[in-house]
Amino acid sequence: MKILITGGAGYVGSATLRHLVGAGHSVVAYDNLKEGHRGAVEGFCELVEADILDGDTLEKTLRDFRPDAVMHFAAATYVGESVEKPEYHYRNNIAGTQSVLDAMRACDVSRLVFSSTCATYGLATDEFLSEETPQVPASPYARTKLAVEWMIRDFSHAHGLGFTILRYFNASGASPDGQHGEDHRPETHLIPLVLQVALGQRKELAIFGTDYPTPDGTCIRDYVHTSDLASAHQLAVEATESGKGDVFNIGTGNGASVMEIIEACRAVSGNEIPTRIEPRRPGDPPRLVAVPKKLKETLGWDPQYASISDVVETAYRWHRDHPDGYPD
Ligand code: UFG
Repeated sequence: MKILITGGAGYVGSATLRHLVGAGHSVVAYDNLKEGHRGAVEGFCELVEADILDGDTLEKTLRDFRPDAVMHFAAATYVGESVEKPEYHYRNNIAGTQSVLDAMRACDVSRLVFSSTCATYGLATDEFLSEETPQVPASPYARTKLAVEWMIRDFSHAHGLGFTILRYFNASGASPDGQHGEDHRPETHLIPLVLQVALGQRKELAIFGTDYPTPDGTCIRDYVHTSDLASAHQLAVEATESGKGDVFNIGTGNGASVMEIIEACRAVSGNEIPTRIEPRRPGDPPRLVAVPKKLKETLGWDPQYASISDVVETAYRWHRDHPDGYPD
């Protein structure tokens, strides 16, 4: 297939892009490089450096490349930032997605895979979250992603768009060959921050809240390896048909608390990890853990990373060998 990947230079977008190229698909990355890295794409495919809000460039790219499908990763993704700057998230995520859908319509591209998030379940009280769990987003970021899910359904109903919505749990890890990993600037995600402390690149880790209703009082997340996310995207894009739509969780079904992540990083690195306790970070739900059954049963997803220590081990090697991330 020919696939255009918005946000193709980002963490999950570039992991997916590399996987798709390896599987024989033809790919073009579209990224404004505000968050993404040229080094994450270089050597794998063409990169169009432009913003999704730039409808003219988007249309031109679609007309030139004539993809069978678009994978839409490009978005603002920091939960904390979305509380401070909701306008940035609404513009990038909602107006940005409308720009993508309008360009797809104008160019007769009728298949979409969309990066949604478990954060849309937010304050839902189910211990394990299935695709049927009611969505109760707890942050502006999560509300923009939920709004976009509805936008996609409405476009599908009105215009025959075929779509697969993927609700990822917490993307994590690095490629086993050590060439691809997490590089956010500034970094706000837990596993990279803990590892940077373990490697002496940061002084200590701030733990955001120890008074959550969880066994050790810290937030629980379901950390899914980017290689497994990438294989799920391949299955999703190959299964998406014009005029039809579906939604899948991508998670492991196993939860790990902030304390458990710190312990896993301590074990992998063999180093002490100094911490300090801070108040809760606004917008953080206490627990988000998937029921990954539908993806496995419907599309035959076969994740390779089941344990958090395996995930952390790949991330550790990436951060140890790339203390400054990608060379750009
Ligand atoms: N945390 C800390 N200290 C830190 C950083 C994070 O205690 O320095 C805690 C957070 O409070 C949270 C957990 O670690 O409880 C995980 O935080 P991350 O920032 O790593 O991930 P989030 O769960 O907030 O968000 C990420 C992505 C979103 C995605 C979401 C799904 O950034 O795009 O996972 O939960 F939607």
